[in-house]
Amino acid sequence: MILSPSLLSADFGNLARELDDLAKAGVAWVHFDVMDGRFVPNITFGPPVIKRLRENSRLFFDVHLMIEEPERHLEAFAEAGADMLVIHVEAARHLDRALRRIHELGLKAGAALNPSTPVAALENVTDLLDMALIMSVNPGFGGQSFIPRSLDKIRDLRTLLRECASPALIAVDGGVDPEKVPGLLQAGAQVLVSGSAFFNHPPYQKRLLDFDRAAAKETQCLHAKN
Ligand code: DX5
Ligand code: ZN
Repeated sequence: MILSPSLLSADFGNLARELDDLAKAGVAWVHFDVMDGRFVPNITFGPPVIKRLRENSRLFFDVHLMIEEPERHLEAFAEAGADMLVIHVEAARHLDRALRRIHELGLKAGAALNPSTPVAALENVTDLLDMALIMSVNPGFGGQSFIPRSLDKIRDLRTLLRECASPALIAVDGGVDPEKVPGLLQAGAQVLVSGSAFFNHPPYQKRLLDFDRAAAKETQCLHAKN
């Protein structure tokens, strides 16, 4: 399991310190929610903020672009220091081209699906994906409730990726807390994005342990079944 804490629930007045605290707690990834006020109702931050934070952080920058026409901004986010760009299939008119461009820029590429978008929307791009992200809330805000149907979508995605022999990671984002971890892992999720359930429960090292322990439960169950 990879935990990717979503900075949306962090202290926006102290982002550099938050990243430092995450690294000290032993977290390897951090999730940036970029919102443009068009694709989603909310507005957050863009490349200049990410660039400044990159200067003092070696965490893996998992950048979730909830923006219209992401194609227009890929270079800027690459220059800012993103490690992976995750674009929405609903927002990219030319998904194949955009994913290829992300790879050309030397970054990992991911595609995200809104709750109402079927997994089949990824069928023709599985070979271009390093990660596929199932949104388990409607994007735009932190602190929403997990949509249970997302578990079926994670299973469907796992089947699709297996059929295509794709090594892409399966990620889930929205309403994820430690209680849901065993079920999510069992369904096939590998990257768990968590905002409020992570940042609202400091200290971070202890919270990371809560997620790790929940993940270990699932691993034990798997061993028992085998
Ligand atoms: C929602 C964002 C999520 C969000 C998750 O639009 O993409 O990353 O921050 O927050 P929680 O975990 O609070 O649902
Ligand atoms: Zn996100």
